[in-house]
Amino acid sequence: MNFLVTGGAGFIGSYLSEALLAAGHSVVGLDDLSTGSEKNLVNLKGKSGYSFVNGTMMDEDLVRDLVSGVDGVFHLGAALGVKRILERPYESLVTNMHGTEIVVKAAAARKVRTFLASTSEIYGKNPNQPLNEESDRVIGSPLLVRWAYSEAKAIDESLIQMFHQMNGLPFVTGRFFNTVGPRQTGAYGMVLPSFVSAALAGKPITVYGDGSQQRVFGHVLDAVDAVMKLFFNDKAIGHAFNIGGEGEVSIKQLADGDCGDWIVIEDRDDSL
Ligand SMILES: NC(=O)c1ccc[n+]([C@@H]2O[C@H](COP(=O)([O-])OP(=O)(O)OC[C@H]3O[C@@H](n4cnc5c(N)ncnc54)[C@H](O)[C@@H]3O)[C@@H](O)[C@H]2O)c1
Repeated sequence: MNFLVTGGAGFIGSYLSEALLAAGHSVVGLDDLSTGSEKNLVNLKGKSGYSFVNGTMMDEDLVRDLVSGVDGVFHLGAALGVKRILERPYESLVTNMHGTEIVVKAAAARKVRTFLASTSEIYGKNPNQPLNEESDRVIGSPLLVRWAYSEAKAIDESLIQMFHQMNGLPFVTGRFFNTVGPRQTGAYGMVLPSFVSAALAGKPITVYGDGSQQRVFGHVLDAVDAVMKLFFNDKAIGHAFNIGGEGEVSIKQLADGDCGDWIVIEDRDDSL
């Protein structure tokens, strides 16, 4: 089968593309290389069955054209990372809402099976652990830019659900918890690569708040495995699933050890 992977030059998208090729499928990657990188395509470019389009999912004609040639869509393209979202809030919001609308509408017009990448961030600060897929969203003030990512992804989920109900679009949503592994960049505020880069450079590790916030980390290859299993399972269609590792770790625990000094910055959060 042929698949379109938006965000195909990104961290998770590149591994997912490799897994699809390994399973005998053909893949078209679409990416504007805003946070993704050509370096992530090292195992893909030149491989039979793989092609890459350097373009934006905001281009409706391009997306419609690409979707017209595939049997399914994996929609991972998004603006993320706390640093990027705080630096470019409006652009990020538009990418995460309108970009998804464009992709979902094109997929719905052809009723091709679609995977939507969502996030554990949609649960916000719900204190009731563990979080299951029916857990409530507990979100802060819309005046705080950091919540815009959570809001946009939640709207994306509603949007794809509506196209499922109205047009019969077959979809499955995966809500990634912190996903980590090689190729993830710390440049946009992702916690683990930021810590590792600082430690390797002998620089202090920056922790936002008091470090007591808990996170669950999962390996990217496990996340990709989950995406593949969900996408190709008819019973998963029309549902959303949490995708993450097991066991919580505090950010303080993560930063602890001989890897650097502490800098504590108040009232910020590292979780995007
Ligand atoms: N990594 C995580 O821990 C995590 C957690 C929750 C959700 N997610 C979701 O998983 C997906 C993949 O995230 P990732 O970790 O691989 O991050 P990533 O930044 O590596 O991947 C996102 C990709 O989308 C591309 N992109 C952005 N705007 C685009 C546009 N307008 N047109 C085309 N491409 C565009 C970027 O260049 C990048 O390659 C995202 O939807 C993200 O919201 C990831």
